[in-house]
Parts: sequence; C-alpha cells; structure tokens
Amino acid sequence: MSTNPLTTLHLTSKDLRQAADLLRKGKLVVFPTETVWGLGANALDAAACARIFQAKGRPADNPLIVHIAKTSDAETWALSIPKEARMLMEAFWPGPLTLILPKNPLIPDSVTGGQSTVGLRVPALELARQLILEAGVPLAAPSANPSGRPSPTHFSMAWEAMQGRVEAILEGPSSLEGLESTIVSFSPLGVHYLRPGSISREALQGVLGPSIPVLVGESSPLSAISVTPGSKYPHYRPHTPIRLFEHEEELPFEVQNSSPLGILGVGLGLDSNRKWPVRWKIWNCVTLEELARILFATFHQADLLNLGTLWVKRPQENGIGLAILNRLQKATIN
Ligand code: TXA
Ligand code: MG
Repeated sequence: MSTNPLTTLHLTSKDLRQAADLLRKGKLVVFPTETVWGLGANALDAAACARIFQAKGRPADNPLIVHIAKTSDAETWALSIPKEARMLMEAFWPGPLTLILPKNPLIPDSVTGGQSTVGLRVPALELARQLILEAGVPLAAPSANPSGRPSPTHFSMAWEAMQGRVEAILEGPSSLEGLESTIVSFSPLGVHYLRPGSISREALQGVLGPSIPVLVGESSPLSAISVTPGSKYPHYRPHTPIRLFEHEEELPFEVQNSSPLGILGVGLGLDSNRKWPVRWKIWNCVTLEELARILFATFHQADLLNLGTLWVKRPQENGIGLAILNRLQKATIN
C-alpha cells in the first residue's frame, strides 16, 4: 500500500465527466451502485487495475467484476454466451446479478486473477451506468472496502474506507440492495449459484424453468472448481463480535455491566416477555429486504457505538435469507 495518502476529490453527479476523465487516465474512482459502492478503474488498463488490488489490500488471485453500461456490451467482453446466461440477462439486467463467462483476451489476466473467465454485470443504478458510458470503457470494480471488512453502502462509509487511497469518490444515493450481487456460472450440469445475493436461487429457477437446475454449493459436483476465489477469504467483518440467535430468550438479559449490546432482526420483541434493557441498541426491521439493506451499515454503526456484541436474528435459509446468512457466517468466522 502507498505510504503517502493521495488527495481524494469528492465528486457529485455534476462532475461525471471529470470522474470519467480520471478513469480513462488510469486513476481510481469509487462510485455508487445499487448493491454496494465499487472501487473502479478502467478494466482494459492492467496498471490501473493493479492499483485496485493495492488500494484494497486484495490478494492478486481474487478476480474483479467488470461493469458494463448495457446488456449488448456483453457480446464484446464475453467470448461466448450460453442460452441460460441470455435468459438471466434478459430477466435481471440491469441489476444485482454477475455472470461468469469466457473472457475476451482484451481484458487483462490480472483483472480476472489469471482465470479465463470474467464476471460481468450491468448495474441498475443509473448514475453508475452513466459513468461507464461517459468513460467509454468497462469498469473493473470490487466492493470499495479494505479487504476483509464490510462493504460500503453509503457515501460516508465509502469516503471513510477509501479516502487517501483513490483519486476520487463519487457521491450518490445509499445502496438500495445493501448486499453484493448474486454471482452465477454455467456448465453442462446447469447454473451454479456461487454467491447468494438479493436475486435468490428461487428467482433464478423461476426464470430458467424446471429443466435447468440451479446448483448450490454441495449439491454441485463442480463446486470444487467453480467457486469464486473470493469465497475462501474472510470477509465482511466488523470489529464488533457478531453472534446469531434464533429465539429472543437466548439473549443475555442478565448481563448488566459490560458494553451495551446491539440487536438486529425482523419482527423483534414478538417472542419474548422480557423488557429490553434501555442501553441496548435495537434495529428492528419489517422485512428481510430491509435487513439486507442496512446490514453493513449496522456493522459500521456497531463499531462506532463500541457495542460489546451485535446479536443478529438468524434468517431462514431461503430467498434473500440465504444471502444474509452467508454474509453473517463470514462475519462470524475467525
Ligand atoms: O455487487 C457487487 O458485485 C459489487 C459491486 C461493486 O458491483 N462488487 C463486488 O465485487 O462485490 P467483489 O470483488 O467484492 O466480489 C467479487 C467476487 C469475488 O468473490 C470474486 O472471487 C468473484 O466475484 N469473481 C469475480 N470474477 C470471477 C471469475 N471470473 N470467476 C469466479 N469468481 C469471480
Ligand atoms: Mg467484496
């Protein structure tokens, strides 16, 4: 990592041209998307992309997702597109879905960690698509967090995480989804659900129909070779310890003198007769979608508030619950 911090420009949507110019000159620009904030560089510029790994402290074998402005651009950057991928693009792009496809050799090997495939995605947030269009090049962008830490979902989190490490940070709306995109790859066996996200396995299956299996983890004989390299690294971890609970009675109501606790869940206060201690910080969501949206910001808040532990009500392992559980499990692994 560079020892001299860079001067970071705070740009807004009025400065889109300036942000695009910086990207074309090989500079790093953090930008908003509907999932999380991305740490962007020109995906065709190997030197600029090398700086992404440096700014994040990211292992070189962990490939970057390449963001394109429109679905038809996938024809340029993927060498071939299976019919299952076309069905998913049609249904979910622009949106929080990354497709792993054979890569065009113009995309440097360093971007894809030496793999012959590339992860492509068209973001739903219009500002992100405008930036890619204005830059005129695809943008490689991992989540804009230092490696291992929670992904930023608000401008303030992105600024705090990346100022001094990049040339500019583009202000934009807080992330609507709050979790990183769903990632899938393709093989003769079916569609491999590699990273759960807000586009659920069930939603993919609904579009693909019963004759094309959507394979998750162990159920996939190819899982050993079709993993996302990122899945082997610890991730999403705040400084505050995270614990999962199923029933509110499991919460340590009797602990009085330590740091206050945080509680995050859907429909809290419904299955306990006990009174919540006033010092506890409660994030009570109405839906799992809301919980997904605030999850990383809550991790960040828990650190700022110096909470002793953040207790999170365990979601069910289906729909978006699978994606939330995936992030929680990675945040609790030591
Ligand atoms: O929502 C998102 O996907 C955000 C925004 C910025 O678009 N980006 C993001 O990137 O989450 P990142 O780098 O934090 O996660 C990308 C994941 C990593 O686990 C990486 O291993 C996997 O995608 N990946 C990227 N290219 C791949 C490839 N060619 N084959 C397998 N896995 C790949
Ligand atoms: Mg990430």
